Amino acid sequence: MNSHGKAQIIKQTEDFIQQRFAGDGSGHDWWHIHRVRNLALELAKREQADAFIVEMAALLHDLDDWKLNPDSNQVEKWLRKLSVAENEANHILDITRNVSFKGAGVPTPMSTIEGKVVQDADRLDAIGAIGIARTFAFGGSRDRLIYHPDATPEMHQSFESYQQNQSHTINHFYEKLLLLKDRMQTRAGYEMALHRHTVMENFLDEFFNEWDGKN
Ligand code: ADP
Ligand code: NI
Repeated sequence: MNSHGKAQIIKQTEDFIQQRFAGDGSGHDWWHIHRVRNLALELAKREQADAFIVEMAALLHDLDDWKLNPDSNQVEKWLRKLSVAENEANHILDITRNVSFKGAGVPTPMSTIEGKVVQDADRLDAIGAIGIARTFAFGGSRDRLIYHPDATPEMHQSFESYQQNQSHTINHFYEKLLLLKDRMQTRAGYEMALHRHTVMENFLDEFFNEWDGKN
């Protein structure tokens, strides 16, 4: 496919996803997708990854997400509808099906550099100041408590136990967000994660100080 055709496919996908995610109140709104797309394209440049695959996978990465749309197969349908070449469609699908975090003890390897780039970009948007904001938005959307001192974090060893977890939002930092820095798959992603990780550590220090009435 020529580059004109690819630009068209990206534009149509952007319009579709922008509409589809516009009203999400769980931290997975269009602006999350937009940031992940931009982060992923930046990492793709540095890692010399295929920009078309990366941009399409970033735009589509939450469409079939288990938290938002369980048992959905919309990515495949969309790629078919736009007549994306079979090998490219399979590569994009491989990324969107494997990108998600599945628990502290569950590895989520990505087999291609394009997959690593999209996963790192999605995870960068899960940490730092934006990550903190998104996490409490998600917790609120699921009626979760902000914090409960009696419920300690759990290192989930299976995807099923991670999926069933109903704990308060502070636990999510220990069960996922603070683990992401050391799971970044690209050099540039890891370097960006360092500062965002510190932002979360500082936030948690302040949170517990205030909880204990210390400042
Ligand atoms: P992933 O698929 O890797 O989890 P997403 O793009 O779906 O990535 O975004 C995940 C984000 O949703 C988390 O980083 C967090 O902000 C929010 N989230 C998911 N699960 C929880 C939870 N149990 N408690 C609080 N926030 C959550
Ligand atoms: Ni995402």
